[in-house]
Amino acid sequence: MPQLTWLVTGCSSGIGETFVQRILARGDKVVATTRGDVSRIAALADAGAKTYSLDVTATESEIKGIVAKILEGGPIDVIVNNAGYIEAGLAEETSYDHYQAQFATNFFGVVKTTQAVLPHFRENKSGTVVFIGSSGGIGGEPGAGPYCSTKFALEGFHDCMKQEVAHLNIKSVIFELGFFRTKIMHPDNVLKFRSEPIADYDGIRDLTSQFVDGINGNQPGDPKKAVEIMIDVVKGEGVAAGKEMPDRLPLGPDCLATMRKRCVGNLTTCNEWEDVIRSTNVEG
Ligand SMILES: NC(=O)c1ccc[n+]([C@@H]2O[C@H](COP(=O)([O-])OP(=O)(O)OC[C@H]3O[C@@H](n4cnc5c(N)ncnc54)[C@H](OP(=O)(O)O)[C@@H]3O)[C@@H](O)[C@H]2O)c1
Repeated sequence: MPQLTWLVTGCSSGIGETFVQRILARGDKVVATTRGDVSRIAALADAGAKTYSLDVTATESEIKGIVAKILEGGPIDVIVNNAGYIEAGLAEETSYDHYQAQFATNFFGVVKTTQAVLPHFRENKSGTVVFIGSSGGIGGEPGAGPYCSTKFALEGFHDCMKQEVAHLNIKSVIFELGFFRTKIMHPDNVLKFRSEPIADYDGIRDLTSQFVDGINGNQPGDPKKAVEIMIDVVKGEGVAAGKEMPDRLPLGPDCLATMRKRCVGNLTTCNEWEDVIRSTNVEG
């Protein structure tokens, strides 16, 4: 495959940083972005990445301006919508402001960045949009509602957009990650139960909190392995050679289990309730 140029959001750590390192190692070009000062990702610049400051919660016009500047340096072939964080909270307890903040980054940040890049892809009649989804976008877990809701929203955005841009030779794929060992669950990063507690949920809140603390640093997934597969899928190389790009790809055995449970559950409902489900059309 010819050399590609990638644009990656959220490159200060974890999956984003690993993407940049592996893209460069495989001989492609990359524009790495971070919120705040680009000195935060100086090591990636030293390794060969172009670096820009991009906070995905900036306004539409600010993000369009940054993308326009990036494009002055040359065309982009792939956008990786990676930036994100976790807001842990219970459905009833979590305040509207906290839901909004979580959506501002994980969903609307992705929408704004994708919309800023799509005109360029349309002009080139080529491009790939990568979404970093989650097992939390396939099945919800108690205490993870704000985060899971954003990742479910990404699934819908991707499903619709993919069909709208296909005739323009633009591809879209969502990778659904299980638990991967990054800083996402670190106490400095994960926002936990910030809203007014409701005593009826004390037990479930404590259990979730313990789970988050316990999984931090013990996630089974290796980010390098996931990133290598995601690059393979975009480039149609390695494990993806000769295969069609999938609509969505779960990564990690934990995510596979979540997807299987969801698929089997949906199929069981379809089969057991088929007569009822089919009974709702207007007569005649
Ligand atoms: N690791 C997992 O288990 C897992 C599982 C499923 C999905 N994911 C997804 O993978 C993506 C990357 O997460 P990670 O695991 O690599 O965690 P991470 O190490 O905490 O990295 C998250 C990155 O997103 C950046 N970010 C957060 N808010 C931003 C904003 N407003 N604008 C620009 N950048 C922002 C962070 O920058 P700062 O340094 O400025 O905060 C950081 O670079 C996320 O979308 C996450 O939901 C991860």
